[in-house]
Amino acid sequence: MGLGQYIREKAKKIDETLKNLLAPAEDVPPQLHEAMGYSIFAGGKRLRPILVLAAAETVGGRDEDVLEAACAIELIHTYSLIHDDLPAMDDDDFRRGRLANHKVYGEAVAILAGDALLTKAFEILAHCDLPPNRDALLRQVIGEVAAAAGPGGMVGGQTVDIISEGKNIDAATLRYIHRSKTGALLRVSVRTGALLSGAGPDDLAALTRYAEEFGLVFQITDDILDVVGDDERMGKPVGTDAKRGKATYPALFGLDESRGAAREGRDKALEALKRFGPSAQPLRQLIDYVLERDN
Ligand code: IPE
Ligand code: IPE
Ligand code: MG
Ligand code: MG
Ligand code: MG
Repeated sequence: MGLGQYIREKAKKIDETLKNLLAPAEDVPPQLHEAMGYSIFAGGKRLRPILVLAAAETVGGRDEDVLEAACAIELIHTYSLIHDDLPAMDDDDFRRGRLANHKVYGEAVAILAGDALLTKAFEILAHCDLPPNRDALLRQVIGEVAAAAGPGGMVGGQTVDIISEGKNIDAATLRYIHRSKTGALLRVSVRTGALLSGAGPDDLAALTRYAEEFGLVFQITDDILDVVGDDERMGKPVGTDAKRGKATYPALFGLDESRGAAREGRDKALEALKRFGPSAQPLRQLIDYVLERDN
């Protein structure tokens, strides 16, 4: 199966599960549920939940056992985007091809919709429907997802991203920002799929190496696309990193070196998958897709 079809099939399952998990927009308070649904069903790539499913498949797991956890991670990601666009943060007006959440619902409701998506994610995780004897694994996953989203992960990275604006930072700080603000959630997506499918320690370690490279390649290409990408294709404004003096790969190393670093990360990610057979094919194709993406 080509990657395009794979992504469409998985995204369809993810969207159906998300619809079942989220309250209908008319639930109380309707403004909040509408704002949550507005950003969730705005046509994101669903890369994180797809990584959960693809990692599960790599180690012999089944979609239906990891779909809810996959959706929980997409809720956390979407919350991070709503908050990332707020005037106090990146102050961007467009996201996923439409007006940013706060431009439609106002800042207060956008903040609350983000809070609601984050907390709803952990409610979903806690109630995940899993095969018997996976309770200890679920507990580990909940801890890892919380760590990846929190001060040791995404929120920590977002903090340093914001306080580094307009400053000269070194390569180690840039790597910390990338690893934390973006890498942590991608890493835990892969680990969640693998852990909940009962992966052994060697498989888990190899998949974690893949995921860490994936995260780096993903944010380097996001930074590159902010320089050379197209607003319309991206569904969000480009050129904004330079305007705000953001710490990015192209700003620190230039475009050519950034492209080289992304290619190197792709090669290392593929190397990490060597131990797997055809079941890892979607993960192999996904890293190429991320390297070559234009949205
Ligand atoms: C954008 O993530 C935010 C970053 C971490 C750079 P995506 O590019 O995966 O956004 P969606 O989910 O497709 O909208
Ligand atoms: C944001 O990075 C990462 C998040 C945790 C949301 P960016 O600020 O570069 O993401 P975009 O470019 O606005 O999507
Ligand atoms: Mg940002
Ligand atoms: Mg941003
Ligand atoms: Mg960006």
